[in-house]
Amino acid sequence: MRTYIKDLAGKVGEEVVVKGWVDIRRDHGKLIFIDLRDMSGKVQMVALPNHKEAHELANTVRPEWVLEVSGKVNARPEKMINKDEVNGAVEIEVLNIVVLNEAQTPPLDVRSDGKDINEEVRLTYRYLDLRRPRMQKNIRNRSLVMTYVRNFFTAEGFTEVETPNLTTATAEGSRDFIVPSRVMPGNFYALPQSPQQYKQLLMAAGMEKYFQFARCYRDEDSRGDRQPEFTQMDMEMSFVKREDVMDVNERALIALVQKYYPEKKIQAIPFPRLTYKEAMEKYGCDKPDIREDKNNPDLLAFCWVVDFPMFEKTDKGDWTFTHNPFSSPTPESMPDLMEKKNIENILTTQYDVALNGYEVGGGSIRNHRPEALRKVLEIMNFNDEKIEREYGHMLKSFSFGVPPHGGMAWGFDRLMMLLQNEPNIREVIAFAKTGEGADLMMRAPGIIKDEQLLELGISVNKKIKK
Ligand code: AMO
Repeated sequence: MRTYIKDLAGKVGEEVVVKGWVDIRRDHGKLIFIDLRDMSGKVQMVALPNHKEAHELANTVRPEWVLEVSGKVNARPEKMINKDEVNGAVEIEVLNIVVLNEAQTPPLDVRSDGKDINEEVRLTYRYLDLRRPRMQKNIRNRSLVMTYVRNFFTAEGFTEVETPNLTTATAEGSRDFIVPSRVMPGNFYALPQSPQQYKQLLMAAGMEKYFQFARCYRDEDSRGDRQPEFTQMDMEMSFVKREDVMDVNERALIALVQKYYPEKKIQAIPFPRLTYKEAMEKYGCDKPDIREDKNNPDLLAFCWVVDFPMFEKTDKGDWTFTHNPFSSPTPESMPDLMEKKNIENILTTQYDVALNGYEVGGGSIRNHRPEALRKVLEIMNFNDEKIEREYGHMLKSFSFGVPPHGGMAWGFDRLMMLLQNEPNIREVIAFAKTGEGADLMMRAPGIIKDEQLLELGISVNKKIKK
């Protein structure tokens, strides 16, 4: 039976079998020390010359080889105890070694925190990069937080619903990734920029309380806090006002920090609220960093930003939505929307949550009355044909008795980045992409075979085909 390395401390005097990777091997004349690492921790093992076969094999092993080791758990002599290590008080006397797999010399050091290593190399060999303790922790904590949030919303009566990835343009304001249809040549799916329309349609469907950890796709330049493919914790509720949505999300954020990051201090509870105007005047941006002490890595300064303008001018001089075409104006601004006047002063029900200078989430109460949604689209100068083509299904669904509703989405990668004190979201995404949107490990995007293009009815401009 295999023993996990974290459990060794309780097994002094026993014989155990451990399995894992060689972290490092050190020869001290007749004694050979091997640090073995598994998903739960690290332990020092010592091969002595009196166990001849194991000792000879121990001499040949190299870093990152995968071993099964039988040995005896010994307490370390008092002066050899390493108090900083989980298994610092024990070591394993090696009795037998089975080599499960050998390893070439890794092209990058997997024992350091990896911050000095060229990121292209890290992403090309991501499966090695993820072996480092820092990355293991990031990915494992991400899973813990995700599970906690799932349980939180489930306990609040929400249902997790998966929505399609092969869909049509979802109007979040970025460029879409498109997927060609084979069955209908010349037609394309779009990958969702968010599940916005589906979650509203779930409200039309009477689900009332929905959430989802959703993958979202936006064809925009990557940055430290942006990836073309990212994860939202997305939610929507019916029969609610702005306060209700903000309340449940604020409680969830506080609860998860208290559960998994007790060393961190939330600067102010309840989260302070600033209007867009105040944020711009005081901090010069709409995702203000309100930390009182920016040198303290364990300070989390959440704040809400509300009362954004609903519309802004495009370069061409037309009106466009600032956040989301489906948002409703504040009750005070509703008469102006319905009369399409005072457009620059119409405020939206949008609420964003900022954390230490990053926008980590946002949402709004939606226009559930079709005539109000239509006014928004008219203000943006959409003609009837465009409205019908792009929003017809939403307007139609609203005509069958849709409840008032609103929701929010967290940028889950950004939240994890800040909780793990990481400088960018790639550090908390197992298989992140480069700034150019490439997956260097899988070599994506890549060219596809001519037969496949033919089948899809697509021809690629020869000039751009590599
Ligand atoms: P929004 O577009 O503001 O709202 O997205 C919600 C949150 O997602 C995060 N985010 C990103 N994270 C990583 N990479 C990206 N490219 C990226 N783009 C956005 C941000 C942002 O706050 N449907 C609405 C939500 C709603 O109204 O309910 C939406 O998607 O942290």
